[in-house]
Amino acid sequence: MRVLGVESSCDETSAAVISSRGDDATLDSLVILSQDVHAIFGGVVPEIASRAHLAAIAPVVRRALADARCALGEVDAIGVTNGPGLVGALLVGVSFAKALAASLGVPVIGVNHLEGHLFATALEDGAAVPPFTALLASGGHTMLLDVPAWGEYRLLGATRDDAAGEAFDKTAKLLGLPYPGGRHIEALAKEGDPSRFRFPRPMLHGGQRAGDADYYDVSFSGLKTAVLHAVRDAERRGALDEERPHLARAFQDALVETLAAKTVRAAVEKGRTRVVLGGGVACNAALVSAVRERVRAQIGGDAAVFAPSPRLATDNAAMIARAALFHLARGERSDLSLNAFSSMPLA
Ligand code: KG4
Ligand code: ZN
Repeated sequence: MRVLGVESSCDETSAAVISSRGDDATLDSLVILSQDVHAIFGGVVPEIASRAHLAAIAPVVRRALADARCALGEVDAIGVTNGPGLVGALLVGVSFAKALAASLGVPVIGVNHLEGHLFATALEDGAAVPPFTALLASGGHTMLLDVPAWGEYRLLGATRDDAAGEAFDKTAKLLGLPYPGGRHIEALAKEGDPSRFRFPRPMLHGGQRAGDADYYDVSFSGLKTAVLHAVRDAERRGALDEERPHLARAFQDALVETLAAKTVRAAVEKGRTRVVLGGGVACNAALVSAVRERVRAQIGGDAAVFAPSPRLATDNAAMIARAALFHLARGERSDLSLNAFSSMPLA
């Protein structure tokens, strides 16, 4: 069975083809077109994103099919992200997928973008399957989930304000780095002295107990304000240029420790020996190694941490095709009334 995946929820136009034999899925092609235009504005402009998707969707799909050596007639089903995301952007993918499916006479299935992120690592590592604890951290979402089986998602905690990626992007802006800022902060932090500054670990303290409202939740707006004050102080001293790497390092250390501690706390509490990371922030090597170290220390040697390669961690259609395959195998289908939704609960 060959599934064509389509993703257009934010600022990446992406298409992918996967093949399945039984439970096994292989990635035949993946094309991701990133809309660089938003860098000028320091954030995604929804109307520009929709128009860029419209211009890109047909050539991106055509290229994914060509790379997979898959003729249109060989597509057995189409999976498309229908939420959460920017409605105008989502509608481009949803309309395209519905029209193509109708013209080919194949089923179309709407996929929750967040569920897609959970499936990303499974494309690269057959062991990245439930039961597991999942941390999804992107520019729009930060959530901690317990996943006893595919299709069963229990929300343990989430951010109360900024998403982790958003915190990276806003801090990058404060430090004068380009958008999106996550990878620039990570690169700069490598040169930073970890003892120069120390920022608060938001909502993380020793007295927390399971059941407390803040046990799994995170919050990053206070951290952002702490960085802002430190940046202003460095500016006053005329020392911002030399402090920049140290500020990036202290910010990243605070955010990473918070996410890693809460993720491993969830795994221990739920008795899981696998942890799956997803979303753009999972590209951050410091986060991945912090989670690995904590898992080794608190759970032990048989526990495993799975992080997707950067191409599959950020928004892409391969993960959407993989999640679609799961739903198709259960006999689920969408019909032509399939719509796009800006918010779409996963759990
Ligand atoms: O999952 P994604 O591609 O799109 C959303 O659904 O938001 O995530 C994009 C986010 C951006 O905020 C970006 O700054 C962040 O992921 N990001 C990183 C890194 N690479 C991308 N954050 C920290 N470290 C990185 N290396
Ligand atoms: Zn995403």
